[in-house]
Amino acid sequence: MNNTSSESTTKVYIAPLQGFTDYTFRAAFTSLFGSPEAAFSPFINAHEPEQRMYRDVLPERNVGYKLIPQILGNDPQKMALVLIELEQMGYKEVNLNLGCPHPMVTKRTMGAGLLPFPEKIETILNELVTNTDCQISVKMRLGLNSIDDWKAILPVVNKYSLSEVIIHARTAAQMYKGDTNVNAFIDIASQLKHPICFNGNIFTLEQFQELSTKMPYVNRWMVGRGLLANPLLINEIHTGIKSSDYDIRASISKLHEQLIYLNSLRLSGSSHVFNRVKPYWEYFAQSFKGMEKGLKKIKKTYSLDGYQIACNEMFR
Ligand SMILES: Cc1cc2nc3c(=O)[nH]c(=O)nc-3n(C[C@H](O)[C@H](O)[C@H](O)COP(=O)(O)O)c2cc1C
Repeated sequence: MNNTSSESTTKVYIAPLQGFTDYTFRAAFTSLFGSPEAAFSPFINAHEPEQRMYRDVLPERNVGYKLIPQILGNDPQKMALVLIELEQMGYKEVNLNLGCPHPMVTKRTMGAGLLPFPEKIETILNELVTNTDCQISVKMRLGLNSIDDWKAILPVVNKYSLSEVIIHARTAAQMYKGDTNVNAFIDIASQLKHPICFNGNIFTLEQFQELSTKMPYVNRWMVGRGLLANPLLINEIHTGIKSSDYDIRASISKLHEQLIYLNSLRLSGSSHVFNRVKPYWEYFAQSFKGMEKGLKKIKKTYSLDGYQIACNEMFR
């Protein structure tokens, strides 16, 4: 049980969020707020056409911070080929996705769809671990539909040499809603041989502190939606100092500006930039409580110009 002896430094990771935390976001974020201990790429689907697979993780697009690419799949050989490719790009650690809850993925026995099948997970881990010198980590949920799937998976996970296991303490059936199951996480921590990382519903410094007080032996944390709602969250966790609403909004304004700028270098045409950036408001909105009129205006815009005017009113 190595998760009861604490490491000295707190590590906070940027979670993978397909459609949000791509290389443009990571470049924008790290240029403004510094590098996290690591950022995980949204999953690379081992069954996608090869020319599209690696565009988010090309080393020249991910400079100045530690990126850990993530693989999703169900075919151990195909997944091993992706791993070897990533290793050749220079990656020293790769993450296995055992958490994606979307039915299109789980029905094909990928992501969280693998959780009821420990023997399939074993075949995949075996193939990945034996085919490379890369370190392998796992990001998993508690189960597909049952909160107990993890119990049969843990002996498999413990058999292999893994760099860490990130637990999003929900079932896939819960998607992203409802409470995380902290007691199940504590059970896993007491049985897991590898370093453990907590993920799920850390939106505020208080929530982090409550979890950290309850589990002082956990030193690895991963934040996703909370970081999009408050780009200063990692800094708050490291310093223990809460940011003001004003500072949070100012940080979103800067991040948003940088996202527009970097996306406009990468995409052709303002409508592409607009379609890429507008969805972030789903998360930014958390930090603009009481400004529903402005948020509505943003929601109703259909051109980059109108959108920027509506955003500027919010950031004033
Ligand atoms: C829009 C969206 C896309 C996501 N994409 C991925 C992904 O590609 N790989 C993955 O492991 N998790 C993915 N997740 C899950 C997050 O990494 C994270 O586990 C989850 O949001 C819970 O953490 P949070 O409450 O800090 O956001 C995604 C979540 C969302 C909301």
